[in-house]
Amino acid sequence: MITFDILTIFPKLFEPFKKESLLARGAKKKLLKIQAHNLRKWSTDRHGTIDDKPFGGGLGMVMKIEPVYRAVAELQRKNRLSGGSPTRRKSKIILFTPRGKKFDQAMAHDFSKQSQLIFICGRYEGVDERIAKKIADVELSIGDYVLMGGEVPAMAVIEAVSRLIPGVIGKPQFLKERLGKGRKKGFLEYPQYTRPEIFRARLAKGGQAIEWRVPKVLMSGDHKKIEEWRAMHGRTIGK
Ligand code: ADE
Repeated sequence: MITFDILTIFPKLFEPFKKESLLARGAKKKLLKIQAHNLRKWSTDRHGTIDDKPFGGGLGMVMKIEPVYRAVAELQRKNRLSGGSPTRRKSKIILFTPRGKKFDQAMAHDFSKQSQLIFICGRYEGVDERIAKKIADVELSIGDYVLMGGEVPAMAVIEAVSRLIPGVIGKPQFLKERLGKGRKKGFLEYPQYTRPEIFRARLAKGGQAIEWRVPKVLMSGDHKKIEEWRAMHGRTIGK
C-alpha cells in the first residue's frame, strides 16, 4: 500500500481525480491511498496564512516554512504509526517546482517502492528556500514550462507511480515494461491500429473521401517483420 499525501491549498482538485478510473479501484483494493490535505490546516495563525512577503523585497508572495514543516511532521508520524513493518518508514518528500529534476520512468519505479509519498504543491511565486533545501528529499519538475502550481504535476506523478503498483492495472501483462527482461531496460511504445483497416474521411463537405489505411505489414502475419516495423516506428520509454 502506498499513501500519497498531498499538501496543497486546493485539495478539492483531487476529489474527482481520485474517484475515477483505476485509481479508485486501486484504492478500493487497498493498494493505494490518495489524501489531499489543505495546507492552511497547519497555519500558525487564525487566518490560515501560508504565505508572506519575500525578504529583500520583490513582487509576489512566498510560501512559508512553518505550515509545511508541521504538516510533514504530522503526516510522517501517522505513516510510521499506521503499520509495523520496516517498509512503513519508506517515505519520500517531493517538492514540485519548474526548476526541479525532470521526472521520468526510472523515478516512477523508485517511488513505487515507497510506502508514503508526500507532495508539496508550491503555489504563488515560490516557496521559502528552506522548504526545498531542508524539508524536501527531491525537487521535481514535470517539464520545462511553468504551471500555476504543483497540483497537476502531483497528479501526473500519482498516475505514473500507481500503474506500477502490482494489481492496480488489471492484468500484469498490461504493464508493458514488465514484458522485457529487467524493467530498467525500458519498453518500446509503438504505433497501434485497430479496425477498420480502411477509414474513409471526407475533409470538405461534398468533397472526395480519402482513405486512411492501416500499414500493410501489420496484417501480414509475419511476426518478425511486424517486430521490425514496430522497432522502427516506436520509441523506447524509461531506459
Ligand atoms: N510548478 C510549476 N510548474 C511546474 C512544473 N513544470 N513542474 C513541476 N512543478 C511545477
